[in-house]
Formats: sequence, structure tokens, C-alpha cells
Amino acid sequence: MKILVIGSGGREHAIVDSLARSSHKPKIYAAPGNGGIRELAELVPISSDDVPALAEFAETHRIDLTFVGPEVPLSKGVVDLFRNKGLKIVGPKADDARLESSKSFAKQFFKANQIPTADFQEFTTAQGAYAALESSRYPIVVKADGLAAGKGVVVAENREQAMAAVQQFMEAKTLGNAGSKVVIEEFLTGEEASFHVFADGAAFQSMVAAQDHKRRFDGDTGPNTGGMGAYSVDTILSAQDHEAVLNRMIRPTLAAAHEYTGILYAGIMLTADGPKLLEYNARFGDPETQVILPRLKTDLVDVLVDIAEHRLASRRLEWRTEASATVVLVSRGYPGRIEPGKQISGLEEAKRIEGVTVFHAETRWEDGKIYTAGGRVLNVTARGATLTEALDRAYLATGMIDFDGKDFRKDIGQKGLLKQR
Ligand code: AMP
Ligand code: GLY
Repeated sequence: MKILVIGSGGREHAIVDSLARSSHKPKIYAAPGNGGIRELAELVPISSDDVPALAEFAETHRIDLTFVGPEVPLSKGVVDLFRNKGLKIVGPKADDARLESSKSFAKQFFKANQIPTADFQEFTTAQGAYAALESSRYPIVVKADGLAAGKGVVVAENREQAMAAVQQFMEAKTLGNAGSKVVIEEFLTGEEASFHVFADGAAFQSMVAAQDHKRRFDGDTGPNTGGMGAYSVDTILSAQDHEAVLNRMIRPTLAAAHEYTGILYAGIMLTADGPKLLEYNARFGDPETQVILPRLKTDLVDVLVDIAEHRLASRRLEWRTEASATVVLVSRGYPGRIEPGKQISGLEEAKRIEGVTVFHAETRWEDGKIYTAGGRVLNVTARGATLTEALDRAYLATGMIDFDGKDFRKDIGQKGLLKQR
């Protein structure tokens, strides 16, 4: 069996790692992959955004199943094209991926389906948005409509900041077309949780919950990033919250979306009034995948084939009760400018610690050595009987790995530990 994984981050390394441990022993290709994925898969030098080239590769190499990691190829219709060519692929079609690729579409969808979410208004002109901001209460959240790689959401503390965000998105066009419409919404407070399901167009299966750490610095301070760490443990959602997420979000969404296939990831705020949906993503979270998939006992190849063949209803997923945690090692300066090309040491020693796996994000292999190739470099991941054990192992391994400019958050999982006390 030949499987193609599209993408090149820590998320894709975690997916490839699970596939490589399958009893089906698939031959794995990754487009374009990274310095760590290289050990488990054949790297294909095609960008994850080059949809026609990906389809051509899958056709000529007779790929049996393709899995899509990132959102951009989904929004460009990679699933539509593969299906038209009779190629098996796991992911939503471009129309369904609008739940992620258009905030305005998503919010209208939540409203139409009575899904609990922040109150909102949308604007197609900057003048309209400025006028509304005159009488708003603060903080407030300003969101660019389109895909923005994490740069499209501003939590504004006051009117000046909110106006500046509208000016940037709608007038300066810093995000191009993604900012031609904005959603302005109520600021919610609470703990965030990431909840993912596998969906096959009719049935779905839930995954274990995770929590991301989006802010750059300890104590959830500093700028938003692509994710500085995550953990997964069974206490993230109470039984009541879990039921509310399924009944008020996931079930109505999949019923209304008709044929949603692939991964659906709900970004949730656990407010005093119960869980509210911040956003959907049409793909796996990064770095959440790095802590979710190591807890999956069921063979991931079987799950993906079930999805592609619409047989997910009869699958029972098995999960480890153990906890997991991942610490993201970044290059000095991230999320701003960084200097790549630093040699990384200690990877082999770190991997020898019980329960530890190091998922690569932006790394490059050259002549047997691994170099940094971007801001988010490695995801040092560990499983443990308890969250404390998983975190201890991940931080022990983090200390063994070194490169010039290495930095990381020291407080991953602390909120999870507090909740257990
Ligand atoms: P989104 O891409 O919509 O998930 O937004 C990115 C991040 O911005 C979220 O993970 C939250 O931390 C924050 N955020 C988004 N919407 C809200 C909201 N209505 N209230 C408070 N924080 C929010
Ligand atoms: N961890 C946040 C995301 O993948 O969007």
C-alpha cells in the first residue's frame, strides 16, 4: 500500500510516524516533508500548495491513499481534484473547507445551526467597521475573513487597537484578499480546548481533547504564534462539556454539512455559560496532533481507509489513558525574524528517553546532519502515566537537544496540572 502525506510540519511528522507504525507496513511518501520525516518516508519535492502537481504525482506513482495535512491545499480544492481523477484522499472538499477558510461563512453557519459562539457582526467596508467600533465594548476581537496563517485575529483592548486592525486588514491590505471582509466579535473568556473528530461523510469518531499554547512567552504573554506546545490528558473536558461539544457543535455541523470528510477540529472556549465555538479548522491542529496521535492505539491506516471508504461507523477507536505533552523548540527571534541553518545536536540521546519522540517541524537534513530551517524547529514529545511524567520526560529531552538560539516555553501543561489538583 502506498500512502502520500501532504505537508511538511510537526503535524505531518506525527502523522507519518503513526502510519509508519501500522501493521500494514505502507510505503510512505511525503510532499514536501522535512528533515525528520525523511527517516520514515520518501520525500517528494512538490510544494503542499501545488495541487495539480500533487495529483499528477499520485496518478503516476499509483498512490492508494493521500492524506492532507495543511489548510491551503484543502481550500484550493485538492480533494475535489483527486476525487475527480478517481484517487482516494482523506480531507474535506473546498466547499466544506470554507468552515475554516472563510470566518464569515463559518459564523453564518454557526448562527444558522444554533451553535453556541461569540456574538458577531461582519463588514465589507472599513467605514462600516469603524462606525460599529464607536459604540462597542472592549476588549473586542477583529478577524480577517480569509486564511491568514494565524495572523488574521486581533484581540483589541481598546478602540484604537481595533481601528488599527481594521485599517491593516481592510485598507493597507496586509493580508491581501483575506482581509477584504472582517468579522468583529464579542471577546470570550475561559480556558481553550482543541477537539478533533474523524468524519467519513456520514459517521464520525471523536479523538481525545488537547490544549494548545498559542502565546510566545510563559504565562500566556507575548504575541500569538503557530503554537509553542500542547498536551493531552483526559481531564481537559468534563463529561458535561464533552456532551455539549458533541450535541451542540459536532453533530449539528456534520448534519448540516452533509458530506464532510476528513478531520474536523473545533477550537473551543470553555466559558462560564458552557463551551462556545471559536472556530473550526478543516484539518488537524499543529501542535495538537503531536500529542493526540501518540495516544491512539488503533492503527491509523485502518482509520484513514475507513474514512475513504465511508465505513467509519463500525470502527471503535481505542485510546491510551496515558497523558502526552509536546514542547516546541523555536529559533531565537520567533515569531519575528530568525536566522536558520544552525546545526542541531542531541537528537539521538533525547530519543532514547523512555516515551520520548521528537517530531521535526522546520528542519533540513544535509550529509547526515540536521539543521534548523525556520522559526518552529522541533516538537519534543513524550507520553507518561500521568501528565507530570509526560512533562518531566519532554523537558528532560528538551535539555539534551541543542542549537544556537534554541528557545522554548517552560510552562507547557501547567494549567492541566492545576486542574488536576
Ligand atoms: P481563531 O483563529 O478564530 O481560533 O482565533 C485565534 C485565537 O484568538 C484563539 O485561539 C483565541 O485565543 C483568540 N480568540 C479568537 N476569538 C476569540 C474570542 N471571541 N474571544 C476571545 N479570544 C478569541
Ligand atoms: N494549533 C492551532 C492550529 O493548528 O490552528
